[in-house]
Amino acid sequence: MGNGKRNRAAKNENDNPFSTPEEDNNFNFKWDPLRNIADDPDEVLKRVDERLNGLEKEYFNDKKDKDGNLENIFSLHGVTRRDFIKWSAFLTSAMMLPYVFSPRVARAANILTRTPFIWLDMADCMGNTEAFIRTAHPTPAEIILNYVSVDYMESIMAPAGYQAEARRVETVKKHKGKYILVVEGAIPTGLNGNDLTIGAKGDSGMKITKETSKDAGIIIAIGNCASYGGIPAARPNPTSAVGLSSVTNRQVINIPACPANPVNVVGTLVEYILVGKAPQLDSLGRPLWAYSGRLHDNCYRRGHFEAGEYVRHWGDVGAKKQYCLYMMGCKGPFTWNNCTVVEYDQDISFPMRAGHGCIGCSQPLFWDRMTPFEKPNADAKIILPMVEATADEFGVALLGAAGAGIAAHAIYTGVKKKRESKKTSEKKKSDSDKNDDNNDK
Ligand code: SF4
Ligand code: F3S
Repeated sequence: MGNGKRNRAAKNENDNPFSTPEEDNNFNFKWDPLRNIADDPDEVLKRVDERLNGLEKEYFNDKKDKDGNLENIFSLHGVTRRDFIKWSAFLTSAMMLPYVFSPRVARAANILTRTPFIWLDMADCMGNTEAFIRTAHPTPAEIILNYVSVDYMESIMAPAGYQAEARRVETVKKHKGKYILVVEGAIPTGLNGNDLTIGAKGDSGMKITKETSKDAGIIIAIGNCASYGGIPAARPNPTSAVGLSSVTNRQVINIPACPANPVNVVGTLVEYILVGKAPQLDSLGRPLWAYSGRLHDNCYRRGHFEAGEYVRHWGDVGAKKQYCLYMMGCKGPFTWNNCTVVEYDQDISFPMRAGHGCIGCSQPLFWDRMTPFEKPNADAKIILPMVEATADEFGVALLGAAGAGIAAHAIYTGVKKKRESKKTSEKKKSDSDKNDDNNDK
């Protein structure tokens, strides 16, 4: 579990947004697929079942209500029972849980639609909300997020003004310690915290966030802005915007990216329903099951990186052959997320599959530290355990003893290819000069 210190976001540009969990001095946990509940798997299942039984009793009127709930919701969207079972198995494996959890994940998703929610919108573009409410063909994760029992959400709720405010206060009171708080957007702290005012009373975003965080069962910062400040906090940060963990003492689970992947949001919420606590987090407050892998390590273009085959201009032959996008600025080697594994829109696409490099949208301060997005980070200092190198040396330095050979091979292959192409063009030029000479004669 993350503690307060590990869970803090990078606060200024000197903090290292490329840090890995291993770098953190407080890194003292080991990954526990049984979620630190008990050592005995049977005991773990027993406790999870007890929790699910209790929540079902609390949130459903009877068996018919419980069994028909998600089924009815999904049938409105053409999702069959079979699709839902397949999706539960997919989410179970994405969460790195054993398969025996799959039916329990389905039960937890059902309970999730009845758990009280408060969803706050701070300084942002609402891209995370838009990403799941505007989908033409929503996935089960997006449908579930559409049907969660939101008691307060400025962007979609029917009540307005004082009525809306009263609803938030009432939810906090009525469901003390049980409601899920999701915050979208950065929190401006400028003008003594009055840089953003919301609602009929003109309360500041900072005040509302603090008040609502106090009694939440769990707190989730969705998207890069809520997690680390995102674009509102980009230099010169005129509103002194910060991530949620900077304004509350409560533990915050960060689900960064722009927008956050609905699989990672629903998976984190399902884990809370299953075990009653936050997932294991990395040093930047992100669930380990979703953010412990570097995109570069699981990218389907990685073979081309190692073979020295790069896209060098948009639309060139390399682009058509889906070569590596590193030379076009891909930040996959410095970004921790699971986009290359779970993808977006249920396996449909993610930036590299669409033909553009990763811009590092799940890393703190990506707007300042990862730009220019379409140029390799040639001058960036990439700080990794026992490695300090510029990005151009990164491929060799990062991969360690075994990988170094591969990367060296990659670079050698790249250099060799460049030399060969130089030789070919020189030869072509000399042939054409000879032809010109002959023609002159
Ligand atoms: Fe994939 Fe980017 Fe790594 Fe290339 S640099 S292999 S495109 S993640
Ligand atoms: Fe963002 Fe990179 Fe994934 S840009 S969506 S972290 S591939």
